[in-house]
Amino acid sequence: MPRIVYVNGRYLPHRYASVHIEDRGFQFADGVYEVIAITNGKLVDIEPHLDRLNRSMGELNIDLPVPRRAFGFILREVIRRNRVTNGSIYLQITRGVAARDFTYPEGLRPSLVIYTKSTKKASIETASQGHAVVSQPDIRWARCDIKTISLLPSVLAKRAATEEGVADAWFVNEESIVTEGTSSNAWIVTTTKELITRQTDNFILSGITRQTILKLASDAGLTITERPFSLKEAMQATEAFTSSSTALVKPVIKINGVQIGDGQAGRVTRQLIEHYLNYMDNSF
Ligand code: PDD
Repeated sequence: MPRIVYVNGRYLPHRYASVHIEDRGFQFADGVYEVIAITNGKLVDIEPHLDRLNRSMGELNIDLPVPRRAFGFILREVIRRNRVTNGSIYLQITRGVAARDFTYPEGLRPSLVIYTKSTKKASIETASQGHAVVSQPDIRWARCDIKTISLLPSVLAKRAATEEGVADAWFVNEESIVTEGTSSNAWIVTTTKELITRQTDNFILSGITRQTILKLASDAGLTITERPFSLKEAMQATEAFTSSSTALVKPVIKINGVQIGDGQAGRVTRQLIEHYLNYMDNSF
């Protein structure tokens, strides 16, 4: 069965799916994207993802390529045609095609590309496997709240992590504050069992998984504080984890070579993994 990709109104076999060389996404990273988890064939948190997409596009003044209500239909159709049960769907919108010029003309037709990735369904066991991270300077711009396809700092930071033999990096700003992961939000649990994640502003992406975890944690009666935390505090935390639509709730068991807690997913992290997997299972 060939993989099917949606490109500007057409469902095409993966190898024929392409965009124009003067697409502004290709030349200027002038576009936005979303990644949405799929569980049991269903989209997880579709409405908040579409809300964030809408916001990102508004901030960049890019028009909707199709009406909002059509997104749900197209996303589900791509999932259906690719027979995806578990995995994720990637959706990218760029400003469209125009002769290369930093200034863009009015009235461009935005490009829309959507495709899926199948993965094994996460279990408590697989989701509880931790990974190590290293810190990397946060060299990104001051609008990290917009989910743009301009991801070079994350590419370079992940590459640096790989060269150090670890899975990922956490960005740290000039004040030694952890902002977020290269493609995830960052969390710690303090010795007093307080769950901490940085408040949202223009220096991090407001993760949809983050929002859901905040709600699940609050429902579970955990003490939560949204505030900045330093790299030093993170390295002294009893637990740490990242959250994203692809990593879900992922334990961080080492930061810059220093073991966190007992080097395994901690109690609070495990509890949140369980709640989040249940939540995903009940998506519709
Ligand atoms: N990344 N912060 C950054 C910088 C991200 O790129 C992401 C998501 C998140 C978490 O957002 P969410 O919970 O909505 O997935 C936070 C996606 C998964 C990616 O780029 O592949």
